Amino acid sequence: MITIIYRESFLTVTEKEQFEEQLSMEIRFCIDPSGHILECNKKGQALVEQFGHDFLKFFSDLYVDEAQNFLNAIKESDDIVTALLHDQLNELGLGTLYNGFTKNGQIILVGFCTQTLARLTGEFVHELRNPLTIIKGFLQLSNYTKEYEKYHPVILSEIERMHTILDNFLTMSLRKCTYKKMNPHELCKQLVALLSAECTVNHVAFDYDIAYTENHCNVDLDRVKQVVINLLRNAMEAFEAKNNGNKIVLRGSVEDRGYRFSLIDNGPGMDREVLKHLGQPLYTTKSKGTGIGISLCKKIIAEHRGTFCVSSVPRKGTTVSFYLPFVSPV
Ligand SMILES: Nc1ncnc2c1ncn2[C@@H]1O[C@H](COP(=O)(O)OP(=O)(O)O)[C@@H](O)[C@H]1O
Ligand SMILES: [Mg+2]
Repeated sequence: MITIIYRESFLTVTEKEQFEEQLSMEIRFCIDPSGHILECNKKGQALVEQFGHDFLKFFSDLYVDEAQNFLNAIKESDDIVTALLHDQLNELGLGTLYNGFTKNGQIILVGFCTQTLARLTGEFVHELRNPLTIIKGFLQLSNYTKEYEKYHPVILSEIERMHTILDNFLTMSLRKCTYKKMNPHELCKQLVALLSAECTVNHVAFDYDIAYTENHCNVDLDRVKQVVINLLRNAMEAFEAKNNGNKIVLRGSVEDRGYRFSLIDNGPGMDREVLKHLGQPLYTTKSKGTGIGISLCKKIIAEHRGTFCVSSVPRKGTTVSFYLPFVSPV
């Protein structure tokens, strides 16, 4: 018998905006020509709370001239002026990259903390380089051995992985969803095709158990696939060693007014501490991780008006599931 030590259902639709704000890296200010802040977004609010409503007060004596010059340059230019500024919060770090321009006599500043940017870009490049290296290697190998058939699945799977990575970063930039009515049972069949191919390539056993229903859900197919691929990647990465016992199961179950999709792995599981932090964007326990996967899954499922749930037992495995509501019959 499996005892679930922790089960959390998180992120309602109302929390979505709050979450997007958290995930967003953008700092936005609207200031008057003297540097007084008239408006800002939540990220900007944190600075205002600490240093007051004068933009120039964000900077220590060492950097205040640079900030003043930046404001002057914006006032004199008809174009966007960019500057890397070190405010008091990140004097030692890389600073914040601001784009500034004037609009209706006011100055609009849009900034990005370059540390976060640099980290994300670094991870992004790193993540794309891995599959590219594999694809290159296998193409060379297949040319050399003339056994294209043998390497074909790996190459395809790696290309698929690059798609996922690119999609994740695209979704971060808040692309809109497009929904179609879809039978969850049909959706599961598509997921089975996807999962079984991936599992075969990675030498992981795969099984499924899908309940039938006549009902439909509103689904953005690409995005739900993106969720499942992210969950699959996590399960694969969690398996400590390649051995014959590694197994992944897709379960589709009919629930009250909706359908639950569960991905079950028999990997090492997570302890309480990890589960507690799992809801936070950019939380990762991996040295090369991005911490984007789960955050993004939650966001996508919230956009589907569904719920997302993780349960895990250390040394037994993890079940990540999401519930999509049925479209009420007309
Ligand atoms: N199936 C799983 N088994 C064990 N740990 C998991 C699983 N899925 C997620 N995790 C944990 O959750 C963390 C966050 O996952 P995710 O948001 O996808 O970011 P990343 O994979 O880049 O670390 C992981 O670092 C890992 O510790
Ligand atoms: Mg992940």
